[in-house]
Amino acid sequence: MIKDVVRTSSVMQQWALDEKRSGRRIGFVPTMGCLHSGHLSLMKLAGEHADRVVVSLFVNPIQFLPGEDHARYPRPVESDVALCREAGVDMVFHPEESCFYASGHSVYVEETVLSQGLCGASRPGHFRGVTTVVAKLFNIVLPDVAVFGQKDAQQARIIQRMVKDLNFPVEIILGPIVREPDGLAMSSRNRYLSQTERRDALCLFHALEEARKLVARGERSWQPIRAAMAAVIADSNSARVDYIECVDDSTLQPVSSLETPVLLALAVWVGSTRLIDNVVILPP
Ligand code: PAJ
Repeated sequence: MIKDVVRTSSVMQQWALDEKRSGRRIGFVPTMGCLHSGHLSLMKLAGEHADRVVVSLFVNPIQFLPGEDHARYPRPVESDVALCREAGVDMVFHPEESCFYASGHSVYVEETVLSQGLCGASRPGHFRGVTTVVAKLFNIVLPDVAVFGQKDAQQARIIQRMVKDLNFPVEIILGPIVREPDGLAMSSRNRYLSQTERRDALCLFHALEEARKLVARGERSWQPIRAAMAAVIADSNSARVDYIECVDDSTLQPVSSLETPVLLALAVWVGSTRLIDNVVILPP
């Protein structure tokens, strides 16, 4: 059980070293807090693969672009820690935002291929912030296994690539997307939605369902599927497409026909909130 919330990287790293010297495996779930059942499912998964579970709560400034929601991102730390406690987490790492990056910090970790398209195209520099913070967190928490959500499919592929290319001794496990009862993918950003926007936000899930139906009926060509998805989004007043794409599930390169496992991913602005969702389709 959590005895404390650690706020200093050196204290966190020492705890991790002690645990590892005692032969215990560390499972790690990095988060930006504002926890929901999606995050909790990853903690459970981590517990199944390790002796100790560490969760980080850190709203990483360098993965937000100028004008994005870094300042207003919700930070309900007390209730987050309580949720971690209930979930049986052993350690919460909640670094001070002002000192996590030392002044003069000038080293970044950048993946250069998988991060070009999808969210990387709409949010240039975002994934460089993600890989840099995750690399730093891995060096501090020293996990044997780290768990990420399929909700952020591109992020997960990029982290897997980083671990492989930079030889991090960390096993990456992915957890499935956890949804609200009506299908909306859980997200900390759902909190920004007004009542009408919350209703409109369902269009992401409905568009993916529409795509799935078309594939089940035998459609293999991407263009008509994309058009049907765009039509679903267009039906919702407050929704505006950022991207709707079909990419190869491992290379993330666009494909025009659904013959191999593909990732259908979309980002949609609902009012002033940008939401993402995806589905992996394995054509028969
Ligand atoms: P955050 O958005 O807090 O998400 C933390 C983890 O929870 C990610 O691996 C994300 O994919 C997963 N997650 C979010 N919503 C989910 C859902 N509905 N079902 C299952 N898993 C879900 O992703 C980040 O933070 C940051 O980029 C981070 C990796 C912590 C680096 O700052």
